[in-house]
Amino acid sequence: MNKQIVQHITTKYQEQFNAKPILSFAPGRINIIGEHTDYNDGFALPAAIDKGIFAALSITENNLCTVTSLDLEESFQFQLTNLNSIKNGGWKNYVIGVVAEIQKTGKKLSNFNLMISGDIPQGSGLSSSAALENSIVNGLNELLDLKLSKEKMILISQKAEHNYVGVQCGIMDQYASMFGVKGTALLLDCRDLNSTPISIQLHDHSLLLVNSNIQHSLAESAYNNRRKVCEKISKILGIKSLRDANEEQVIKLIDSMNSEDVLKALYVVQENQRVKKAVELLKENNLPELGQLLYQTHKGLKDQYQVSCEELDFLVDFTKNQDSVLGARMMGGGFGGCTLNLIRKDSINQFKNNISKAYLQAFQKECSFYLVHASDGVKIITNNT
Ligand code: GLA
Repeated sequence: MNKQIVQHITTKYQEQFNAKPILSFAPGRINIIGEHTDYNDGFALPAAIDKGIFAALSITENNLCTVTSLDLEESFQFQLTNLNSIKNGGWKNYVIGVVAEIQKTGKKLSNFNLMISGDIPQGSGLSSSAALENSIVNGLNELLDLKLSKEKMILISQKAEHNYVGVQCGIMDQYASMFGVKGTALLLDCRDLNSTPISIQLHDHSLLLVNSNIQHSLAESAYNNRRKVCEKISKILGIKSLRDANEEQVIKLIDSMNSEDVLKALYVVQENQRVKKAVELLKENNLPELGQLLYQTHKGLKDQYQVSCEELDFLVDFTKNQDSVLGARMMGGGFGGCTLNLIRKDSINQFKNNISKAYLQAFQKECSFYLVHASDGVKIITNNT
């Protein structure tokens, strides 16, 4: 928990709104394995992390809601009636989306003020979006006593992103951010939304994220396009989703349709298998094989699913000559953001040095690093109402 932010946002809130806020925190997430499986009703292994977004809120007598992002130094106002997304509205559409989607469930809202701040880098693939959505829905739930269950709240967050931001995301990010359990990753079944906590015991190893500091602008349309391809193939196979497909069924399609699409579907089927394997390996504490699985996932995301990019491939390939790294892969939606590295603790500093130099030389760009720990999901930090 970042105490500095708690302090800062509380002070700034009182300065701007002259009221004591309640404070809601929602974390970002990592995903050990199981990428692009969530919207295929498949399996993933995410964990909430110790970085996220704080939302400070209180009720106001004004007839407008005022929202301030401390980090972006931007503010905007809206009325609770007739909410629509704003063209090129960026972060504002997440706020509007959450509010509108709460209203669609039939809950009545009163006007409120909201301030947001966090320590999760945007566009890093750590799901700042889900953290933002969840921090707001959780905060409003507490502030206005809406009695929304956690299950309802994650669906509200997801729909906000679908309907007001335009990304047809799965449920993994919102789920992990809401339900995270300290020290564990959640084996998430995205069909029935049940999860089993799997203890992450890495002993002399850690999970280190390397941020490429790249964000490709095509990412959103490419994401939606991947989802469409998966849905198209499920339809052709006569199944509900790729969760229900096996490799044989998919391979048979190769003569009758676009082979790139078939490879994408095959990736999803194989990735679901890798998630199950990864859980066994974690239980057996077989980190070297887990590392190999991470490399396999990266290869699948790069060659079959085609959501990687030059910079991510470079960061992953670089680790293959580093004895201290057992495995690495791009993480999240793709086209930028972070790689996840399973690395020996005593070599982290040396590794950081080596990879930063090489990355700088190759792309004239700095990479950044985060050591993350599996943490608890959303929480209310103070409640002065
Ligand atoms: C993004 C989406 C998730 C998931 C991942 C890829 O983070 O928000 O729903 O699909 O990409 O695994």
